[in-house]
Amino acid sequence: MFRLLVPLVGTLLCHSSNSFVLRSPISTGNTGCHSPIVTSALRQQKQAADDWDPQQQEPTDQELSHSDGSILFKRRDAMTASRDCAILLSTMLLGSPLAEAATDGAAGIGADPKHPVVILGAGGQCGKLCTQILISKGLYVLATTRDGRAVLKEDSPFVTYASCDITKETVVNQALSGASGVIFAASASGKAKGGVARDVDYIGAMNTATACIQQKVPKLVLLSAGTVTRPDAPAFKQTNYFVKDYFGEKFMDYKIAGESAVRDIYAAQKQQGGKGQLGYTIIRPGALNGRPSKGPAKLHLSQGDIYSSEISREDVALVTVEALLKGKDTDFVTFELNQIGGLKKCIASLDDLPSELVHAGAPTFSELLGGLVTDSDMKAKYPNVVNDFRGDIVR
Ligand SMILES: NC(=O)c1ccc[n+]([C@@H]2O[C@H](COP(=O)([O-])OP(=O)(O)OC[C@H]3O[C@@H](n4cnc5c(N)ncnc54)[C@H](OP(=O)(O)O)[C@@H]3O)[C@@H](O)[C@H]2O)c1
Repeated sequence: MFRLLVPLVGTLLCHSSNSFVLRSPISTGNTGCHSPIVTSALRQQKQAADDWDPQQQEPTDQELSHSDGSILFKRRDAMTASRDCAILLSTMLLGSPLAEAATDGAAGIGADPKHPVVILGAGGQCGKLCTQILISKGLYVLATTRDGRAVLKEDSPFVTYASCDITKETVVNQALSGASGVIFAASASGKAKGGVARDVDYIGAMNTATACIQQKVPKLVLLSAGTVTRPDAPAFKQTNYFVKDYFGEKFMDYKIAGESAVRDIYAAQKQQGGKGQLGYTIIRPGALNGRPSKGPAKLHLSQGDIYSSEISREDVALVTVEALLKGKDTDFVTFELNQIGGLKKCIASLDDLPSELVHAGAPTFSELLGGLVTDSDMKAKYPNVVNDFRGDIVR
């Protein structure tokens, strides 16, 4: 139901008020095996490459200008972009550019069947897509659900299945034993299905981070949600209101509480003399939709929890896998993920963000994720942007 309600709320807010975005808080505070998802992403990338025309790109930048006329993101050098697109196009004729980009710097994540990537909530829509993308790259996955069912129709030597209820600390700990990476794609399934937000999105996230540290898992990627640090934002309030009968009160509060617990657990590990081997990435998508991937050229990645509109689950999954496989390059960072097109509808109402915090459009997913600011640097450099809201809950 949440799948239906949140996009609906997002759509209504975006279309009716042009304001499904945050305002003001800033001032206060085996590549040959192409699954449908990869084929779809390739199609999108090809389309982006085919569509590339520096002359036509210019209006897009204008549409992404702030109301005061300042440019929201730096327009890429047209020559460089043209060259990159040409490389992209030629690469596509030889193999999957997604797979090549993602496995660069992967540091062995998922390469050994004894050390698979563990997906928590693999039966969910994003979890399943992440599973498909990883196995399409010839990487090993342990796809977990509460009942241990197979989530893919097709057999693959790269995927095995197991049960894992993330609300149970010892169960998560066992499931993550030997993992080379973890994707947290779970979320409350609702009171009727035995899971409220407090148990799954908060306690479950805390259990996961604790287990990742105990089991020395190199990398955790957690799916959270946009606007979680902005309790005054319409999207935050509306989500809590509309889903409370299904997932319990304070859904968004428990989402940010889960995020905060993850950051705290990793910070404590560092302070205790951990060698910084273990890292996390937290992704805050806007309202999820079931449409095909738009591709990296049409995605908007930002930091500071200011921008939120909508994004396809395919793109969320592709970025999630990329963030995982980039290893240390994306350690200790939190970012929002949206479609440029969705934000354009309400761009005039957005607060300004330093250009360092906005990455809009890139030739590859890997480049989209380049140059992110760590959470500790965000606090130090941008104290007026970061809102340290941790959820109005009883801990
Ligand atoms: N929907 C949106 O618009 C939106 C917006 C922003 C962010 N997000 C976040 O994005 C992520 C992915 O969303 P989605 O729509 O792909 O999710 P989804 O389809 O609702 O899947 C969530 C999965 O979590 C699993 N789960 C529930 N309780 C669990 C437990 N105790 N242990 C293990 N797994 C459990 C569910 O398993 P069962 O199948 O067994 O119930 C379900 O398969 C979630 O974190 C969500 O909160 C969603």
